[in-house]
Amino acid sequence: MRDQLLNLQNQALADLAGITGEDELQSLRVRFLGKKGELTSIMKGIGALTAEERPLIGQVVNSVRDCLEAAFESASTLLRDTIKSQKLNNEKVDVTLPGRSLPSGTKHPVSLVIEEISDIFAGLGFIVAEGPEIELDYYNFEALNFPKDHPARDMQDTFFVQNNLLLRTHTSPVQIRTMLKQKPPVRIIAPGTVYRCDYDATHSPMFHQIEGLMVDKGVTFGDLKGILTIFTNQMFGSDIGVRLRPSFFPFTEPSAEVDIACVICRGKGCRVCKNTGWLEILGAGMVDPEVFRHVDYDSENYSGFAFGMGIERVAMLKYGISDMRLLFENDVRFLSQF
Ligand code: DAH
Repeated sequence: MRDQLLNLQNQALADLAGITGEDELQSLRVRFLGKKGELTSIMKGIGALTAEERPLIGQVVNSVRDCLEAAFESASTLLRDTIKSQKLNNEKVDVTLPGRSLPSGTKHPVSLVIEEISDIFAGLGFIVAEGPEIELDYYNFEALNFPKDHPARDMQDTFFVQNNLLLRTHTSPVQIRTMLKQKPPVRIIAPGTVYRCDYDATHSPMFHQIEGLMVDKGVTFGDLKGILTIFTNQMFGSDIGVRLRPSFFPFTEPSAEVDIACVICRGKGCRVCKNTGWLEILGAGMVDPEVFRHVDYDSENYSGFAFGMGIERVAMLKYGISDMRLLFENDVRFLSQF
C-alpha cells in the first residue's frame, strides 16, 4: 500500500509537470485528490490493515496528500503567472506612437459673434452681466415702463410660464436687475438667450440678444452714437456707414433704431437690404426717467443710454447666412465652416 501511495504521488507529480491550462489542472486535481479520486480509493484498503500498520500508512497518506496539495497550489500559481506574462507580452504598447486625435468641433457662429461683441465692448470698459431666462413680468415689462395692457407688450409675442412668470422676451430686464444691485456709474453688456412665439426664415422662437447699458453723470445721446459707431466700425469694417432713425421703446426716450450700410452691396441697394442700402441692426435710446424711478436712481443727476441687438441677425449679416434656421439645425457641414 505504501508503494501504491508513492506511485500515485509520482504519477500525479509527473502529470502535473505536463499541464498547459487551468482545465487540465482542475481535472487532475479531481482525479487524484477528489472525493472519488485515486487517493480516496487507495485509502479504502486501510480497513484491512493490521493495527500496527495503520498509523504508519496513515502518516504516508498524510504526507502524500500534503505533498500533492502543495504541488497543485504551486502549479496553479505558476500557470496564472505564465498566462499573465503571455498576455503582457502580446499586449505590448508602443508609448512612442502619436496619440489618436479626436475630431475637434468648432465654435458656433452665435458664440463667435457674442465673443467678438463682448471683446469690443470690454475694450470700452463694459463688463458682462447676466440674468435669468425665466423672468418675472415685473423685470421683463413693468419696470421697463411697459404698463399692464400697454400695446407695446403685443410686439413681444411672449411665452408665459404662469401669470407673472414668462420666458424673457429680451435681455433688457438685465438692465433693471443690474441697476437694483449697484449704484451708478454702470457700464454693462448682457448677452443671453431670449424667447418669442415666432418662427420663419428670419425669426426663431429661441434666439440671442446682447444688451448694453451705460449710466453716469452727463451721459448724452452723442456718447451713445459715438460708442455705437466705434462698435459698428470694429465689427463690420471702419468705412461702414451708420445712421440713426427715430423710433419708440417704452424704456428709452428718445429712442432710435440704428442702421448700418448694407454689408452686401455697401449701400448701393440689393435684395438683402431690400434696395434701401441700409440694414437695421439694433434698437437704442436714452434711459427713460420712469425706468430710473423703478430702480431708485436720481434722474436729475444721472443719465444713461441703452441698446439691444439680435445676435443671430448680426451673425447672418457678418457671415452671409440667408436663413436663420440654419443656425439651429446643428448640421456639422454648416457649423464647421466658421
Ligand atoms: N429690448 C428691445 C427689443 O428686444 C431692444 C432694445 C431697444 C433694447 C432699445 C434697448 C434699447 O436697450 O434701448 O426689441
